[in-house]
This record gives sequence, structure tokens and C-alpha cells, in this order.
Amino acid sequence: MTSGSAPGKIILFGEHAVVYGRPALAVPISQVRAHATIEDIEGVPTGRIQLQAPQIQLSAWLDELPPEEPLARVTRLTLRALELDQPPAFRITVHSTIPIASGLGSGAAVSVAVVRAIAAHFGRRLSPGEQSALAFEVEKLHHGKPSGIDNTVVAYERPVYFVRGAEPEPFAIPTPLSLIIADTGLATPTAEAVMGVRRRWEADKQAYEDFFDQIAALVKQARRAIESGHTDCLGPLMDRNQELLAAIGVSSPELDRLITAARAAGASGAKLSGAGLGGNVIALVNPQDAEAVTHALRSAGASLVLRSVVGGPDHDIS
Ligand code: PMV
Repeated sequence: MTSGSAPGKIILFGEHAVVYGRPALAVPISQVRAHATIEDIEGVPTGRIQLQAPQIQLSAWLDELPPEEPLARVTRLTLRALELDQPPAFRITVHSTIPIASGLGSGAAVSVAVVRAIAAHFGRRLSPGEQSALAFEVEKLHHGKPSGIDNTVVAYERPVYFVRGAEPEPFAIPTPLSLIIADTGLATPTAEAVMGVRRRWEADKQAYEDFFDQIAALVKQARRAIESGHTDCLGPLMDRNQELLAAIGVSSPELDRLITAARAAGASGAKLSGAGLGGNVIALVNPQDAEAVTHALRSAGASLVLRSVVGGPDHDIS
């Protein structure tokens, strides 16, 4: 049996504006991961591949699944990339601890885990860039114009400064950032939030381009602050990013409730992370406030609360 896995991710700054060519900062989160395992199936003709993902009630043969089924798509693309026309029959089983449609990169992580498992099963290596490119083809199924940030950060497993169409720039986080991630429990397809922004941008391009420019300026300021270890200004930058996300219409009462609770319990800043409408918020805390903020988020109705320490002198992530 061979396996592959990939982490979840959070976007620290810059979601949505990144679809319109502005930069964003994202980091992998290893507390939640997607896993794919592969085993040979005896007595079944070559070329037949079984896909199992119990969490989404999927159990099917690859040749019975439509092209737009995400697991089928990433499997076919990976086999093609590895030039495996008629491989010995095998079964792929997928499990993930990443909440689905919640802004934590579940789709991209599942894709990268499958790519890694198939490559490992056939003793092959694909670079992070190749893994990311395969997962990007699947991201396109979720919404028409993905920026590519999710597949990039998940495949590289490094903090990245990301601009659509450019080589991702890994960046250092010398001073650890203590983050609390809290799920509203509302699964929201990325496509819905992205299409809403697109409609409103179409209706008032000038205002939206200006919002995106303001977000881009925050992203650049945040990167400088993180890289130089001057993290005191990050909380207010997160709060300002959240104001701009609300202005472009991707916050919601559920997100606002968690953000307000985190700030009231001592978080230095908080914002939605990912596509918004539902999904997750992230709160930046001093380590001594982590417990109180966690408790406040649970009391405010969060369905899942995770603590993540990102960066530090020895690690990119922990
Ligand atoms: O899929 P999510 O929820 O992590 O959102 C991705 C970030 C967006 O900027 C909203 C979309 C994109 O393609 O970058």
C-alpha cells in the first residue's frame, strides 16, 4: 500500500483581490490534512481503477465517473502526466480532516494527496510545481477563474506570496504567528462567493478596482511586517482587510459574530479566510490569550476551533 497526503491552508491576506491580479499571502496548515492511499486489486483487468471517498459517499470505478467529477479528473490527469495508459488495477481511498467548502483548501489538498499517492505508487516523482499544475486543473471545476493560490500553497507546503500567473514566492516568518481558526459550520461553495464578487465588479468596476488596490497595499505591508518580525501591526491590518472583504460583500452575520467574539476576547485582529459567506475566520492572538479566544469562539457557535502556530526561527510551519 502507498499513500500521499497534503495539508490544508489559510489565506492570511488578499483573498478575492487575488482573482483580479493582486497579491495574497497564504500558509499551509498541518493540523488538518487530506490523505490518499492506494492498493493493488487482484483479479481485475489492467486499467481499471476504483475510487473510494467514504466522507462524500463515493465508491465507483473511474470509467463510470463523468469527466467533471473532481477525484476522477485528478486521477485521469495524473495518469496522463505519468504516461500510464493501462496500469495494473488499483483502488484509491481518500480521507480528509479538512472541513469541505470552508476556505481551508480541502479540494486542493485532496487533489494533491491523490497526485502524490499515484506518483508514489508507481515510484515516480513530481515536483511541487507539477503537482500544483495538476490540482489547478481540478480547481477550475470549482469556479471558472481560480487564482491558483490554493493548489500552490498546498503543493509547495510553504508560506507563499502569490500573484496569479507568476512564480510563487515563498516567504519567511521569523517570528511565530499564533492563530486561532474557527469554522462557522456553514459550507459555502467558493464559486458562489467568487461569482457574487464578479457580478458586483461588473456593475461598478471603478469602486471594486479601488477596493482590490487597497487590499493589495495591505498584503504588501503585511508581508514586510511578517518578514521583518514586526508583527504588532498585523492585527490591525487583518481588521482592515476584513472591512474591505465586508465592503465587497463576502462577509456574513455568522462570520461577523465569530470575528467580534474573537476581538472581544483579546485577539489582536480577525478576518474571514478563503472565499467567505461561510467557512472559517482566523484570529491573531498573543499566545497567552489563545485559550480565552478559543473559548469565546466556541461560545459564539464555532463548529470547529483549531490553534495553529505558523513560522518561527526553526520551522516554516508547525
Ligand atoms: O477556496 P477558498 O475558499 O480557499 O477561496 C479561494 C480564494 C479566492 O480568492 C476567494 C478564490 C481564488 O481563486 O483565489
